[in-house]
Amino acid sequence: MTTNKTRIAIFCSGSGSNFQAIFHALKTRQLNAKIVLCLSNRSQCGAMEFAHQNGIDTAHLMEKQFSSFDAFSEAMVKCLKEKQIEMIVLAGYMRKVPDAVVTAFTDRIINIHPALLPKFGGKGMYGIYVHTAVLAAGETESGATVHLVNEEYDKGRILMQRRVPVLSDDTPESLAARVLACEHTLYPDALEKLLAEQQS
Ligand code: GRF
Repeated sequence: MTTNKTRIAIFCSGSGSNFQAIFHALKTRQLNAKIVLCLSNRSQCGAMEFAHQNGIDTAHLMEKQFSSFDAFSEAMVKCLKEKQIEMIVLAGYMRKVPDAVVTAFTDRIINIHPALLPKFGGKGMYGIYVHTAVLAAGETESGATVHLVNEEYDKGRILMQRRVPVLSDDTPESLAARVLACEHTLYPDALEKLLAEQQS
């Protein structure tokens, strides 16, 4: 059966290396999905630049452009509806997704977290803080988790995880690099699985 390509919005705030990994995977694996929007709270970042270079529409939306958080949330929902978005992929988006967006896209928002949830998740657990906490806890392994997004930080259903070792001489930076490399294969794999489930 042929289905229309699922229309994806990527939400980013940073370098966008996961965005790039997913973009290439959609092409090389010929997945039935297309990135049609890159939404960011930053007008200039690696992710937005990559979108421009590859002809992907962008939206720069930040709270302070609006008179209230509700107005900001409504504008985000409107933008996503106008682009007929069917799935949202968070890839280094450094803001909490407004509840109105989570409600409008229930079970259609995924995130990647650079640790093995439910450990080392929640508010304040992002970037280098995660890897610092993993090392401080004396963990022998870490990894990455792809999960559905709900109203609570890092609490949605886990879709897929992948492990990496923690080495005795690791620094937060060396562990972060190993986990990020793992994310670049995990995120496309998890997205492929989710698309297959949704499109079957
Ligand atoms: C990744 O470590 C991801 O786990 C976290 O934000 C980072 C994004 O990196 N949510 P990039 O912008 O994809 O390079």
